[in-house]
Amino acid sequence: MRIATLTSGGDCPGLNAVIRAVVRTAAGHGATVVGYEDGWQGLVEDRRVQLYDDEDIDRILTRGGTVLGTGRMPVDEFTGAVDRVKANLSDAGIDALVVIGGEGTLKGGRFLHMHGVPVVGVPKTIDNDVNATDYTFGFDSAVAVATDAIDRLHTTAESHDRVMIVEVMGRHVGWIALHAGMAGGAHDILIPEHPFDIEDVCTRMARRFQMGEKYGIIVVAEGAVPAEGTLEMAEREVDQYGHEKFGNIGALIAHEIQNRLDADVRSTVLGHVQRGGTPTAFDRVLATRYGVHATKAALRGEFGTVVALRGEAVSLVSFDDAVGSLKVVPDHRWESALSLLG
Ligand code: F6P
Repeated sequence: MRIATLTSGGDCPGLNAVIRAVVRTAAGHGATVVGYEDGWQGLVEDRRVQLYDDEDIDRILTRGGTVLGTGRMPVDEFTGAVDRVKANLSDAGIDALVVIGGEGTLKGGRFLHMHGVPVVGVPKTIDNDVNATDYTFGFDSAVAVATDAIDRLHTTAESHDRVMIVEVMGRHVGWIALHAGMAGGAHDILIPEHPFDIEDVCTRMARRFQMGEKYGIIVVAEGAVPAEGTLEMAEREVDQYGHEKFGNIGALIAHEIQNRLDADVRSTVLGHVQRGGTPTAFDRVLATRYGVHATKAALRGEFGTVVALRGEAVSLVSFDDAVGSLKVVPDHRWESALSLLG
């Protein structure tokens, strides 16, 4: 059997661990693996490399990023290239395609599967927003980076009697903000699922000061939005793939708190630092398990499936289950975090 794999969408720690697991598992079953470069683009342009179960592959377990490269492709360009993709796969003698990516990539996988391509999906994203899986790999590593940053901001905030705003990634969901905020003992957390009222944010911070505290840490997800009619926000720009550009909500909140409370406020945007570097042990294990299970599913001919963590076990779900809607922070998780704030 000949398996192809690719990584697509924003990179995250753990992609190489999946690639390694795919190659090693395939080799153990007498199958070979090729990798397409730069995500869908490489598949459309037939840019591929043979991957061998050798020392080089063995060593990528701990490396961040993806040795295959990644990228995004406009949806129209991708769907318009389906015949070319099928021809490329057939010319290369590919029997199965393992696609590793987030919501957009898995939608692409579903599209190819519907057009007769034998596909298995592996969910990744630091945002942890893919449905039908408890966790995507990359999330734990991002939370570790954000938590470390919050720990460091505590000491400088306390020394200067400042309010520190920490803006973390999370376009549509607040998983990173919630987990890093809880792990880092943040005094306020703002997430896209619950539009915030800046007056309430200021009241909570003012209450801290009245109790004798002199500093505060607020973690805000990049996709957090003010409740309607509470605060003017500039319209977001859109990139060439139709994705909104984020990255200024922290500064806006800092400006408001500074003016309304006359406090000394600073804002830090963690940005792509959260996506770089070596994966945590949890992500290495999860990514490896996903790679092993996806390859075994491909070897068994179980196509149109996505590997997913359900409790302790890795299971197979359908593409429809994985990409139907995003996995948002549920109310019970939000409520338990709320009781610790202030
Ligand atoms: O989807 C993952 C993610 O890291 C988001 O959290 C973030 O908004 C986005 O990618 C950033 O994308 P880009 O690398 O295109 O700036």
